[in-house]
Amino acid sequence: MASVNISNVVKSYGALTVVHGVDLEIGDGEFVVLLGPSGCGKTTTLRMVAGLEDISGGEISIGGHVVSDKPPKDRKIAMVFQNYALYPHMTVRQNMEFALRPQKLPKHDVDAKISRISSMLGLDPLLARRPAQLSGGQRQRVAMARAMVRTPEVFLFDEPLSNLDAKLRTQVRMEIAKLHKQLGTTVIYVTHDQVEAMTLADKIVIMRDGRIEQIGKPEEVFLRPRNLFVATFIGSPSMNLFKMTAKAVGNDVVLECDDFSVPLPARLRGRVHQGQAITLGVRPSDIRLVAPGEQPLITAKVEVVEYLGVEALVDLRSGHQEFIGQMPAGSRPSVDTSINLTFEPAGLHLFDSETGNSLDLD
Ligand SMILES: Nc1ncnc2c1ncn2[C@@H]1O[C@H](COP(=O)(O)OP(=O)(O)O)[C@@H](O)[C@H]1O
Ligand SMILES: [Mg+2]
Repeated sequence: MASVNISNVVKSYGALTVVHGVDLEIGDGEFVVLLGPSGCGKTTTLRMVAGLEDISGGEISIGGHVVSDKPPKDRKIAMVFQNYALYPHMTVRQNMEFALRPQKLPKHDVDAKISRISSMLGLDPLLARRPAQLSGGQRQRVAMARAMVRTPEVFLFDEPLSNLDAKLRTQVRMEIAKLHKQLGTTVIYVTHDQVEAMTLADKIVIMRDGRIEQIGKPEEVFLRPRNLFVATFIGSPSMNLFKMTAKAVGNDVVLECDDFSVPLPARLRGRVHQGQAITLGVRPSDIRLVAPGEQPLITAKVEVVEYLGVEALVDLRSGHQEFIGQMPAGSRPSVDTSINLTFEPAGLHLFDSETGNSLDLD
């Protein structure tokens, strides 16, 4: 096992810079997920750690040793790709043996390693099969097994589940989580899927355009997004956004738009000035029906109701504002009715509309 340190790493292709000075410390045994939209530089960053791409600037260390000039085979890493890249003419066992070949181990040790990993991943009944005789999920497990027999110090995964159907994805995701628990190996895992990131990561690194937007535990990036990009990227359905203006009323401050107003949360006193343009973010799950006798914050018309079993997603409109609420299915409203709603006070996220930054930053 090993820690990984990525320090001010830059990647340019000619005049085009695609990774702009990324800094990231990954602890020994930590499961870190690089999350971001397509093209933001996740794969490039991972390939630089693997040694498959040169770095244009900065430094990468694995286990305390600078590896920037070392070839991939000397980095004690193993990489699992999106397309499993198994050798089609080899059996599962042969694919695993092939991965061990550079280590020139005695046959006895090879067999012991293969048998340990194969039973851990439930591959024993499949060892004699060729990739064409396996399902997508089984192939992906073989790809992981092939990476694992080399007992690397760091696992690198690049969107390993994206070729699987939804049900298998959940299953293999849980297997990866279990394996990490058992092996405790450091993992860097790339995905554009926030559910994978939230469920697997000790630490999520959210990237955009070759830069890191936020690093934090899943709860931190969900509950305290640093900016509008993170706020809207994490969470499904997306956080609702309302364009508001801060206005002093007596000694208090309210945020208002044409359709409703909200008192400024007490924790943000002194951080907002008169006339400031503020984007108010409220997750669908923080919107609820008022209790009997409770003052509504906003009254909205129900346009569409999507029943999802446990919960329902409700498309709402109030004047110019369109937003989504997420409610227990049992108390979902009917289409075309008018309902009185409030926002959970703890669920109010305020952002400066000009910078996009959260007002909650220390
Ligand atoms: N060999 C290359 N030459 C030029 N541009 C590249 C090359 N590889 C990747 N890029 C560009 O670098 C950016 C980041 O790509 P990538 O790391 O693959 O993103 P992600 O994995 O987050 O989708 C993209 O804009 C991509 O077009
Ligand atoms: Mg990629």
